[in-house]
Amino acid sequence: MDTEALQRKALDDVAAAATVAALDEARVTYLGRKSELKLALRDVRDRESGMALNAAREAIEHAFEAKQGELERAELDAKLTSEEVDVTLPAELLGPLRPRRRGTLHPSTQVRRDVEDIFLGLGYEIVDGREVETTRYNFDALGFPDWHPTRSPRDSLYLTEDTLLRTETSPAQIHKMESTRPPIYMLSIGRVYRRDTIDATHFPIFHQFEGLAIDKGITMADLKGTLLYVMRQLYGPEREVRFRTHYFPFTEPSMEPDVSCPICGGTGCATCKHSGWLEMGGSGMVDPYLYEFVGWDPDEYTGFAFGMGIERTAQLRHGIPGIRPFWENDLRFLRQF
Ligand code: DAH
Repeated sequence: MDTEALQRKALDDVAAAATVAALDEARVTYLGRKSELKLALRDVRDRESGMALNAAREAIEHAFEAKQGELERAELDAKLTSEEVDVTLPAELLGPLRPRRRGTLHPSTQVRRDVEDIFLGLGYEIVDGREVETTRYNFDALGFPDWHPTRSPRDSLYLTEDTLLRTETSPAQIHKMESTRPPIYMLSIGRVYRRDTIDATHFPIFHQFEGLAIDKGITMADLKGTLLYVMRQLYGPEREVRFRTHYFPFTEPSMEPDVSCPICGGTGCATCKHSGWLEMGGSGMVDPYLYEFVGWDPDEYTGFAFGMGIERTAQLRHGIPGIRPFWENDLRFLRQF
């Protein structure tokens, strides 16, 4: 056997191998158990030819090793290049994977959360109400007389003769009073429904927040102080609150709180119709009738209650002229908050 010629041929083939697979094949040919070289090594008789064969084997093995490393690196490089992700690719080209624009909370939800935070800070408990009420809770318990116009199906949305979509959050007061004993400091927020024709300032669904505080020795000063604090939290530290006497069937006396106009600071502008004040809802001292209704001694406790609109609050905070945009789901409106 011409050892030198074999070695040359082997090294040529190693150099020519373009892939790891081709190299493996050549390895079998030149270094495999049945290769010419291995068979010759087995039959070796003299020292000289043994040394020559071993030298050739070593040289060929080295060549294979070096080529193996080279080919593996090249194949890894090729793989990395072909599987590359271009992190600078413009998002638009990613199609359905393109990042979504982050949404914002609905302005009603923002006010709702702010109101909840303010009252939680005052130690109030937040309770859920029922959107479907009976006439007993929506009207009777709250002292609405039989002839009251809001009981009419023309004003309210009835499901059956004595169940309806609640017209205000005030029934939550009665549920709370029936379920516990004073001290009560509760806030309830939710949707209310009225059979109103939609226009700039009316919508048949809106949200109210309703507060109730009942304890020993509560006075109107507590009501006024609470609302003053809340209005300043909602509309700024400069706000003032005033009460106008009013009538609600479930409070006595009843008051409508006004807040000094956050737009003009009270000097008069279009928003406050140049009066310097804005109406904020209803309030009053809990009518003793309610205590009797839930079976309590009306002389034992006193308390106050109030109810206000969430949308109206958002309107005043952001200068939103009407109520309709709150319900139209127009992103051009919603994205502004
Ligand atoms: N429920 C009244 C309304 O919708 C608002 C209201 C007035 C709530 C007086 C009260 C209250 O808790 O004491 O017009």
